[in-house]
Amino acid sequence: MKIQNGQIYLENVPVTLIAQTYGTPTYVYEENRIRDNFRRALNAFRKYYPNFRFFYAIKANNNLAVANILRQEGAGIDAASINEILLAQKLGLGGDNVMFSGNFLSDDDIQQGLKSGVIFNLDDISILPRVLKYGKPEFLSFRLNPGYGACEVGDFVCNGGPNAKFGVHPDQIMDAYRMAKEAGIKRFGAHMMPGSCIRDPEYFKFITGLLMDNIGKVGKELGIDFEFIDLGGGLGIPYKHEDAPLDIDKAAQLVAEIFTEKLNEYDLKPPRLMMEPARYFVGDAGYVVGTVHSIKNSYKRIIGTDVSMNTLARPAMYGAYHHIYVNGREDEARKPVGLCGQVCENTDFWVKERMLPEGITLGDIIVVENAGAYGYAMSYQYNGRLKPAEVLVNGDKHWLIRQRETIEDLVRNVTVPDHLK
Ligand SMILES: Cc1ncc(COP(=O)(O)O)c(C=O)c1O
Repeated sequence: MKIQNGQIYLENVPVTLIAQTYGTPTYVYEENRIRDNFRRALNAFRKYYPNFRFFYAIKANNNLAVANILRQEGAGIDAASINEILLAQKLGLGGDNVMFSGNFLSDDDIQQGLKSGVIFNLDDISILPRVLKYGKPEFLSFRLNPGYGACEVGDFVCNGGPNAKFGVHPDQIMDAYRMAKEAGIKRFGAHMMPGSCIRDPEYFKFITGLLMDNIGKVGKELGIDFEFIDLGGGLGIPYKHEDAPLDIDKAAQLVAEIFTEKLNEYDLKPPRLMMEPARYFVGDAGYVVGTVHSIKNSYKRIIGTDVSMNTLARPAMYGAYHHIYVNGREDEARKPVGLCGQVCENTDFWVKERMLPEGITLGDIIVVENAGAYGYAMSYQYNGRLKPAEVLVNGDKHWLIRQRETIEDLVRNVTVPDHLK
């Protein structure tokens, strides 16, 4: 994003052109920023541990245009559901390039997962006998809950520790791998995902040590040569302008150091080191472009926009912060105002008070920052509000990569029994 003579551009495309061409609200993704984010992170980790690979956690943004950018860069796919395995297949990825990290799997999930032939990453020891009932995965991993979790965007996104629903308890991890080995499974990985949006490099060192201390004992006692060890996602981005970015080089260095130290301590053959981030790749490359439609001066001055809680759920859902720009007014003096969407819920009053340009008026274009991860993917249709359009920009080119929904999408799967007509 850049601002020139007051006008906001996403790559080199003016947001006014986006609004005129595609309407609002519209999600816009900067292709070059996604590529830069991916390469910065990959280069950092490969510098300190060359046998390193990223999978992309497609849950954060499953638009196939976006996912194809990351596939072109060399990412595999972390799939949270059978449908995400099918999305990976639409990218031409399967087998060892996809990991199925679903949780609380149904028998149907298990059968379809086995049929797909991707790496199975089991969330609990109890799932293994259920998997073995239907077949033997070639490549298996367990997701450890190391008893610790963290998150910078609220407890809701903390994926490890006693209050998280994810992962195998450390007391059960040895038995889990033993059972798998005794069942004749030959290829193994290990996995963990205890937190999200972390900008402290020391965190990554700490969790790597935690995983290795659990997995190292397993490898040593059971004679398992892990083919990969996956540290999950969690690479953070700054949502607030005063927040410092993650020092990715430092994080990579600290991780590689402790990883190598623990490989030596437990006498493990060096496996591929992996991570499966999403936010770091796409979070700051995505924006929501919206329009100011109505302004109320009452108990408070409230700016009403078409960026509602159903368009961008994170503020209402997690209390998450997203910076807001107003096109053509960034140089103006600021005044405290509230800002909301058009949904009939007070949680849609998603900015209670913020210093925004004082001249903000009807028809102004707003740009909501850091919306590329867990943005469109978590949008929904409440209040009959349709899901927005998605657009990709690269230089001065722009493409519609998902159409705005229409009323037909709202009724697509609905049938009304004859006696009600
Ligand atoms: C298993 C797993 N891997 C990776 C990710 C991606 O996390 P992030 O966007 O924090 O990098 C998530 C997110 O919830 C996840 O659940």
